[in-house]
Amino acid sequence: MDRIRIVGGAPLMGAIPISGAKNAALPLMIASLLTDETLTLDNVPRLADVAMLKRILGNHGVDCMVLGKRAGQNGLQGESIELRAGDIVDTVAPYELVSRMRASFWVIGPLLARMGEARVSLPGGCAIGTRPVDFFIAALRDLGAEIDIDGGYVIARAKKGLRGNRIVFPKTTVGATHVAMMAASLARGETVIENAAREPEIADVAACLVKMGAKISGAGTSTIRIDGVDRLNAARHAVMPDRIETGTYAMAVTMTGGDLLLEGATLAILPTALDVLTAVGAEVTATNEGLRIRRNGNGLAPVDVTTEPFPGFPTDLQAQLMALVSRANGTSHIRETIFENRFMHVQELARLGADIHLDGQMATVTGVDRLKGAQVMATDLRASVSLVIAGLAAEGETVVNRVYHLDRGFERIEDKLGACGATIERLSG
Ligand code: UD1
Repeated sequence: MDRIRIVGGAPLMGAIPISGAKNAALPLMIASLLTDETLTLDNVPRLADVAMLKRILGNHGVDCMVLGKRAGQNGLQGESIELRAGDIVDTVAPYELVSRMRASFWVIGPLLARMGEARVSLPGGCAIGTRPVDFFIAALRDLGAEIDIDGGYVIARAKKGLRGNRIVFPKTTVGATHVAMMAASLARGETVIENAAREPEIADVAACLVKMGAKISGAGTSTIRIDGVDRLNAARHAVMPDRIETGTYAMAVTMTGGDLLLEGATLAILPTALDVLTAVGAEVTATNEGLRIRRNGNGLAPVDVTTEPFPGFPTDLQAQLMALVSRANGTSHIRETIFENRFMHVQELARLGADIHLDGQMATVTGVDRLKGAQVMATDLRASVSLVIAGLAAEGETVVNRVYHLDRGFERIEDKLGACGATIERLSG
């Protein structure tokens, strides 16, 4: 298994191109199941999760073609891919595939809407909490589906097609909002989704669906209206920039010091997190090319932060923030409200010298003067990257083991950081 070796201490200087968002690319690829025509996606990040989803979609009969490079492209841009679900050959998403990537459960919406049936494995356990699928099931039932659970599979049927309805989510859910929006696009009549997730990736997927001929308004707000149509058609869409990658590199430079231009990023995709970073000690400037992040001359200030659905502070940046404030001058409090078990990085950060006390969903982080490099273990995607940024600011050598988690969600992280002055390398095998 690959490892990443870092020698900490160098400031980050230079520019990092921000990749297409994993959390938009995945549902956009899944949207290709809604039409027999070609969906072309640009700026698709080269990530293990994207490769896995290509395989999963291939199993349903989706042809996926990576388009050749165009003049002026230097390999740093994402891929352009064509997805064509001419015939859906299989409406079953088996356990072996769904258990490897939770978001692949989302195929249930488009398969059901287009084919009138889907048989999708329950995703199973997950390192960051139980993550049930009850909101998906309730929403699809609202749209007229019959749903049974048998042998670990969710079996959904709507032989006469789905019909529009009012869906009210009891709690904000990104995945079930995507699925309800996709399914309702091909339902008969109007659907209104209330308490919809407002994450920018929802608006990005909606924009693509609209290009495909869907009638959707309000995506990005908590009420989404969808007028069902009979069929969707070909379209071309560029994946939005990754706000979690943006936030992660912004925290890295705030921690190490230096000056980074995060190319392609905008203020709008990270409202609260950038405010928090400014409070900790970053200077954030929006430019035509992206966001410029510098560490201001002072030390790092402690903060009190609670993770919340968008536009609040994202749970996907919680681990990275914890790494950052582990070096603050004072005590920070970080409360996790989205996932009940998302603190696996705490023990590993402690190996680098961080002082973190956990009490239920609340972490109390007492800033220390210095972190010291050590061997650490990546446990999930965002936890792993918090160890990388802590390693960049630690004295001496840090080795992050089990790097495959990182490859699921961060494109060429060692190249991007290495180009900005970090001493970082991948050790194979
Ligand atoms: C998505 C993101 C993930 C991010 C999360 C929250 C993708 C591919 N993943 O995950 O990176 O951390 O949003 O911003 O976009 N829940 C239920 N029942 C359900 C569905 C969800 O109880 O049927 C709960 C979850 O356990 C969790 C909360 O709702 O506590 C929010 O989860 P949700 O927004 O659905 O997360 P994902 O879509 O899985």
